[in-house]
Amino acid sequence: MTDTTWFTEARLGLFVHWGLYALPARRGDNTGTSEWVQRHEHTHPDVYARYARWFDPDRYDPAAWAEEAWQAGMRYAVLTTKHHDGFCLWDTALTDFKATNTPAGRDLVRQFTDAFRARGFRIGFYHSLLDWHHPDFPVDGKHPLDADASARTEPRDIAAYAEYLHGQVCELLTGYGRIDVMWFDFSYAHEPGVWGGKGSDDWRSSELLALVKGLQPGILVNDRLDLPGSADFVTAEQVQLAGPPERDGDPVVWEACQTLNGDWGYNRDNRSFKPADQLLRMLVDTVAKGGNLLLNTGPDARGALDRGTLERLSAVGEWMELHERSIRGAGHSMYPAPPDCRYTQRGDRLYLHLFSWPLRHVHLPGLAGKVDHAQMLNDGSEVRFQDSTTVAGHPDDPALSDKGSVTLHLPEHRPDTAVPVVELFLRDRPGPTTPVAP
Ligand code: GLC
Repeated sequence: MTDTTWFTEARLGLFVHWGLYALPARRGDNTGTSEWVQRHEHTHPDVYARYARWFDPDRYDPAAWAEEAWQAGMRYAVLTTKHHDGFCLWDTALTDFKATNTPAGRDLVRQFTDAFRARGFRIGFYHSLLDWHHPDFPVDGKHPLDADASARTEPRDIAAYAEYLHGQVCELLTGYGRIDVMWFDFSYAHEPGVWGGKGSDDWRSSELLALVKGLQPGILVNDRLDLPGSADFVTAEQVQLAGPPERDGDPVVWEACQTLNGDWGYNRDNRSFKPADQLLRMLVDTVAKGGNLLLNTGPDARGALDRGTLERLSAVGEWMELHERSIRGAGHSMYPAPPDCRYTQRGDRLYLHLFSWPLRHVHLPGLAGKVDHAQMLNDGSEVRFQDSTTVAGHPDDPALSDKGSVTLHLPEHRPDTAVPVVELFLRDRPGPTTPVAP
C-alpha cells in the first residue's frame, strides 16, 4: 500500500478551482455551484468555448497564492487541471481547448507546480473524468446538452474519449515532475435518476489507475474512479462526518473538501463566506475524526484571490501559527471529549479544543492520573487541574466526585483566539491508531 504519512501529517491543504467558469462567475441556477454554470445554463460547448477568447489572467501570480496558502498553514495544493467543461489549464497536445490558446498564452499548470513546489508544497492534480467539450463524450443526464434531442442521439464513442482521458493523464504525470495526489472527479454510473451515468467501465478505471501508479509510484489517488477498495484515501464533500470513517472496524485515511462560500469556482455575487472561526472548527472537527481538510479557493478571471478568500486564509493562518501542533501530525484520540469540545492527539500530547468557553471548569472523563501538565496552547500558560477524586471539600461525597475525571481550572477570560486549545501532556504514550487504506 502506498505510504500516506506525509498526507496525514499535513492535515490541511489548498484546493484551487480555476478555469473558464471564472468568467461567467455565476451559478446559473439556485441550487448548484458556479463551476457547473455551463450545465445549469445549458450552454452549447461551442458557445461556452467563446470564453476562451477573453481568458486573460494578467493578475495570476501562483507564487503569491503559494505564500498565502503556506501562511494559512496549508502544506499541499490540488489544482483543477481540467474541470467538467473540458478546458485545460496546461499545454496539452490532445486538444486546442487549452490555456495556451487564450490570451493567457502560457501553461498555467506549469507555473502553478513550479511556484508551489518551490514554496515547499506537495502537489495534487484534480482532473475531471467528465468532459462536456469532447465530441466523443456521450451526452447524459448531467451534460449541458441533455435536453437537446439530436445531441442525445449523436453517435459518440466513449472508448475514444477514454483514450483521450488516459492520454491527458499521461501528459500530466510525465510533464510536471513528482505529483503527490491524483484527485479524479467523478463517477455516477449508479446515481439514481441520472440517465447515461458513467463509471469504471467508461473510464477504464482499472487501467487508468495502473497507468497513474506506474507513472508515479508514490502518488495517492482518491476514491472517485468507481473502483471500490482501490483508493488511497476517501473523500467527503461539503459534509462534516459524524465520526472517523472505518472499514471493517479500522479507521481509514480520508479527506474532507470544503468551500469557503458554497461555490467551488469563482462567483462574483457570492458573499456567503463562512466566518474564520467556523472554518477553524471545521478543521479541528475533521482532524479530531482523523481526516484532512482540503479548503477551496476559486480565483477570479484575472487570476486573483478575492478579498473574502484572502481574509479567511489570513485568519486561518493567524490561528495556525499558534496552534499548529494540535493539527499537524495530530489525529483522532481514543479519549472521549467533553461536550462542545474536540480532542486531537499526537503521541503523548492531547489537545482539547474548546468550541464554547466553559464556566471555569471542564471535566475530562477517563483522564484521572494520566495528565502530567496542562497549558493553554496559545501562550503556554499553565492550566491548573486536579483529579476529580480529590475535588476540594468533597473528597468522599459520591454525588460530587466524578471518579476517573480530571478537572481543569480554566482562566476566567477566554483567550482571544478563534478556537482556544488546552495542551495536555500525558504521562503515558498510548499506542498509535494507524489508519489503514480505505
Ligand atoms: C463535485 C462537483 C465539482 C467539484 C467537486 C469538488 O464533484 O461536480 O464541481 O469540483 O465536487 O469535490
